[in-house]
Amino acid sequence: MKFNLQLALLTLISAASTADALSFPATAGLVDLSDNAQRDVSTMAQWAEGYGAQKADGFEITSYDGQDYLAVTQQNLPAGSPVLYIPSDLVFSSNKAAAEFGGALGEAEQQLAVANLQDFIPLFRVFVKVLIEYEKGAESPWFPWLNSLPRQYYNGASMTSACFDCLPPYAAWLALTERINLTNFKKASKFLPLSNQAIANDDSILTWAYNVAVTRSIEWNGERLIAPMADFFNHGAETEVDISYDADGNCMVYSSRDVPAGSPLRVSLGDPTNPSPLFATYGFLDESSTATFCKLMHMMDEMQQLGYSFSDLLFFKETGEISAPVYDVVLYYVLLQNDPGTAQGFLQAVTSGDEATKNQFHEQYFAYTKEELQKHVDSTLADLDRLSTIARSYDVRTHPRVPVILQHNAFVKETFLKVKQTLDNM
Ligand SMILES: *[C@@H]1O[C@H](CO)[C@@H](O)[C@H](O)[C@H]1NC(C)=O
Repeated sequence: MKFNLQLALLTLISAASTADALSFPATAGLVDLSDNAQRDVSTMAQWAEGYGAQKADGFEITSYDGQDYLAVTQQNLPAGSPVLYIPSDLVFSSNKAAAEFGGALGEAEQQLAVANLQDFIPLFRVFVKVLIEYEKGAESPWFPWLNSLPRQYYNGASMTSACFDCLPPYAAWLALTERINLTNFKKASKFLPLSNQAIANDDSILTWAYNVAVTRSIEWNGERLIAPMADFFNHGAETEVDISYDADGNCMVYSSRDVPAGSPLRVSLGDPTNPSPLFATYGFLDESSTATFCKLMHMMDEMQQLGYSFSDLLFFKETGEISAPVYDVVLYYVLLQNDPGTAQGFLQAVTSGDEATKNQFHEQYFAYTKEELQKHVDSTLADLDRLSTIARSYDVRTHPRVPVILQHNAFVKETFLKVKQTLDNM
C-alpha cells in the first residue's frame, strides 16, 4: 500500500479545523491490542525508511525474546556520528496535535486545568494523537508503527491492587502516583469528542495509549515528542546515543562516544542512581543502578526540613555505603523524638552548612543514629521477604508483573543486605 503521508496530514488538519470535532472514517483493522499479539517491528522499520527515515549502517532493532526490542549497532560507531534521522512528518508532537485538533481538545484540557494538571497537557496531546491514530486502524498512516509497539506494560500505571500488595512503600507510592496520572487522563478522555465513544470508555485502550505516550515520548523545549523508530532506544546508566530535534522538528540521533560493534544503543530516561522511579514510570528494573533511595518514608518531613530530596538519601548497592544526608535525616528524626531543643541546634547546623558543629552532633549521638538505621534496615528486609512471598504466591499467567516486582524487591534486598553489613561493622 502506498500512502502519501503529507497529504494525509493536510487532510486531517483541514478536517479538524472545519468540523472542530474528532470524527473519522469507518475503521477497519484496528491494531490488535491483546497481550499475546505479535509486534511487527520489521514492517515498521521498512515503513519509516519509506518515509525518509535514515539510519547508520549497522543500526538494527533486535530482540532476544520476540517481546522486548532494542536498538543496537552491528558496526563500530565513532563518537559524534549520525545514527538515525527521523523526518518531522513522522514525529508525534504535542504542538502538532494541538494544531491538528484545535478546539476539539478544549473541554478535556480544561478538565486537566481544573484538576491543576496543566503540566500534563503536552503529554495529554500526544496521548490523544495515539488514541486517534489507533482509532483509524489500517487507515492511519502510523499503523505500522502502532503495530510495532508493546501491548503489555509492567509500570505503575498498569498495576493492579494485587501488584501494590507486594511492593514496599516507596515503590508502591511511586507506582500509585503513576496510576493516578492515568486515572486523570481517563477522566479527561470523557470530554474528547471522539466519534467512537466506545474507545473513550474502553479502559484497556486508554491505558495502552497512555503507556505509549508516557514510555515513548521525550520532553524537548516544553513539547512532548515521539519519533517512531527513535523510540526503540533502551535506558542505560551509561549511554551511547543522544536524541535531539532540529528547528524544523526533525529528530536526530548521534553517538555520544565511540561505540564498538555489537553494543546496545542506549539513552538516559532518568536518574541512574535510583531505579524505583524508572520502574514505576517505565516498568523495567535498571540493574545497572548503583544505588537506591534508602526508603525512609517515615522521615519525609525531616528530609524536607533539612533541605534534602529523595535522590540525596541513598544506599549504594555494591559497597553498602550510606550517603551522608541519610545520617543527617536519621539523627534529626531521633533528636526530634527525644530532645527537641537539641534537634533545633542540629537543624541549624545542617541548614547553615556548619560542618564542624554538625559533625560534633554526629559523634556524640552516633550510637542512636546507628541503632535507628539498623532498625530500619532490619524491618525493611523483613518486609521485603514478606512482600516477595506474596508475589510468589500469584500465578504469573494472570499476574504478568510478578517477575519485575520480584526483581525490584531483590535489588532492594541485595542493597539493604550490603548496608546491614556496613552498619554491623561500624
Ligand atoms: C505523574 O504525576 C506525578 C505527580 O504529579 C509526577 O511527578 C510524575 O512525573 C507523573 N508521571 C508521568 C509519567 O508524567
